Amino acid sequence: MHNHMSHFSLKSLFGAVFLFFAFSFGLKAQDGAKIFKQNCAVCHSSHTDQKLTGPGLAGVFDRAPKGTWLHDWILNNEKVIKSGNAYANKIYNENGKAAMTVFEGQLTDKDVDAVLAFIQGPPPAGPTVASGSTGTSDNGAVEEKGGIDPLYLLLGGIVIIAIIIGALRSVRQSLQNTYNRKEGKAENPDMTFSQEVKQWMGGHRRLVGVFVIIICFVGMKSCWNACFDIGVYYDWETKTGYKPEQPIKFSHKIHAGENEIACQYCHNTVEKSRHAGIPSVNVCMNCHKGISKTANEGSEAQIAKIYYAAGFNPKTAMYDMPQNPLKWIKVHNLPDHVYFNHKQHVVVGKQECATCHGDLKKMTVAEQQAPLTMKWCIECHRKTEVAMEGNPYYDRLHKALKEKYKGQYDVKFTVDKIGGLECAKCHY
Ligand code: HEC
Ligand code: HEC
Ligand code: HEC
Ligand code: HEC
Ligand code: HEC
Ligand code: HEC
Repeated sequence: MHNHMSHFSLKSLFGAVFLFFAFSFGLKAQDGAKIFKQNCAVCHSSHTDQKLTGPGLAGVFDRAPKGTWLHDWILNNEKVIKSGNAYANKIYNENGKAAMTVFEGQLTDKDVDAVLAFIQGPPPAGPTVASGSTGTSDNGAVEEKGGIDPLYLLLGGIVIIAIIIGALRSVRQSLQNTYNRKEGKAENPDMTFSQEVKQWMGGHRRLVGVFVIIICFVGMKSCWNACFDIGVYYDWETKTGYKPEQPIKFSHKIHAGENEIACQYCHNTVEKSRHAGIPSVNVCMNCHKGISKTANEGSEAQIAKIYYAAGFNPKTAMYDMPQNPLKWIKVHNLPDHVYFNHKQHVVVGKQECATCHGDLKKMTVAEQQAPLTMKWCIECHRKTEVAMEGNPYYDRLHKALKEKYKGQYDVKFTVDKIGGLECAKCHY
């Protein structure tokens, strides 16, 4: 605290140099965007005036004190408020003494500079952050992009070919008739179209065969795809691959992967109870109050479903509409006679989510990857060692087991040794 002044001016010099580089390369601003999304978007809109829990940050560089104030505030706003700083106390009171998170220890000086560069820079490409209550949903409405379904192309092609065949057929027929008339023969008796088709097919058996096969294949393939889409697809051998379509296109890849949101942030009972739990819509609203769309096509409609479920009205930024609970479809299903406990496996057994669920960070749609059969549970219990050392849960048991297997140094305390194969442990 003693050499406060010199410390600060050095810091601001570094800050200025850093900001300069940040702007020249535009790189840091991207990191900044990410840091902002993860830490600040819950409470702030970055490039508009929209108030969430905290004020919208558009124009903050003009209204906040100059120098290192912003940097210091973001790292530890409590300290700045306590120091008696007038502006800090003014905004604190104006915002109903709502507390901003203290980021000291969580964010480095570099992170803060990157965030500041992001806030000062141009709004992110593809409006990430809600653009106020001034009716984005009216003008930002449906922007259907091209991309025609190949099935329609195929059907279109068939129609065009049929028209051409029809045209050629009548041309040929009238030519034939003219020819016949010239030769003094009788006009061709008009064959019906189907008679003619039959005659043609008779002459081109092999070609017809190939066509039939292609059409069957295309038909089967699209049925197969449709099955995939509605989640009927299921690998009967391993019983895996089930991924039902959910009421909102929620992507673990975007949330847990790209934005590195911790699994426990949403599945917040996974370390406390037998159930991991599915987050309520309020958890979504923590962030989506401020994120109404992304750069991806159709995202606005998906996020609007969150608002609909939460009874949130984006025009008034208030919860003044009726709520409509979301009905997520369960992906993993054990029969009722089986007991499975997450806390036991994640906290006590120290098992990773990915061991049983696969890498959710890469999944756009959550999918069952483990077979969930009795054999699967038992095989893992047979080969996995219990993490006993330094685990208070096992202190007593460990002593007893050491006693029991005294002298046999190579004994491994796998789960089956502590009763992991007893019927009653897994069955009610
Ligand atoms: C839990 C909510 C919350 C989070 C998270 C949060 N803030 Fe704040 N922020 C506030 C509130 C509330 C205020 C208004 C002052 C007060 O009441 O403390 C504020 C004020 C500010 C101000 C001053 C605004 C002005 O108008 O002068 C800045 C700048 C700021 N925050 C930046 C950030 C940044 C950057 C992050 C992320 C690293 C962040 N905040 C994260 C709640 C939050
Ligand atoms: C932002 C919130 C959020 C985060 C972060 C998150 N999830 Fe989820 N998770 C959900 C929601 C919502 C569902 C239900 C919809 C679905 O199945 O996609 C879900 C479903 C699941 C399911 C399927 C549950 C079932 O129905 O059987 C598993 C498994 C899962 N999450 C694991 C994880 C893991 C592992 C992580 C961390 C790598 C993670 N989740 C991070 C919100 C989240
Ligand atoms: C901790 C913050 C956070 C939480 C909680 C959260 N999201 Fe998100 N969500 C994000 C971020 C960040 C993005 C990506 C924004 C971007 O790319 O511009 C996003 C994007 C989305 C998108 C758009 C995906 C796309 O195609 O671009 C949907 C839909 C969505 N979230 C649904 C949900 C649902 C449903 C929940 C609750 C179960 C939820 N989110 C909870 C932060 C969050
Ligand atoms: C040892 C294997 C295993 C591990 C490790 C594991 N799970 Fe599960 N998980 C399961 C099984 C089995 C089910 C099905 C439970 C049921 O149907 O009762 C399940 C179900 C779920 C569900 C659906 C909701 C529920 O509570 O039933 C979610 C969400 C989930 N797991 C998330 C996680 C997360 C997040 C982690 C890591 C922190 C994790 N799981 C670790 C095996 C595991
Ligand atoms: C990835 C490995 C793994 C899989 C798969 C697994 N388990 Fe476990 N299980 C463990 C470990 C490790 C422990 C030891 C936890 C501890 O230290 O108590 C354990 C412990 C248990 C216990 C407590 C045993 C006791 O004596 O206290 C039960 C019950 C259990 N598992 C049920 C199941 C069921 C039901 C399934 C299948 C749906 C399953 N487990 C799948 C690793 C696994
Ligand atoms: C580690 C956990 C675990 C242990 C120990 C265990 N089971 Fe199971 N058992 C399961 C699971 C999980 C299923 C559900 C499998 C499925 O749905 O495919 C199951 C299913 C069954 C079924 C129904 C079979 C079926 O096809 O639906 C019977 C019967 C059964 N177990 C008997 C036993 C007996 C007897 C024992 C003791 C020798 C035992 N189990 C020990 C996990 C266990």
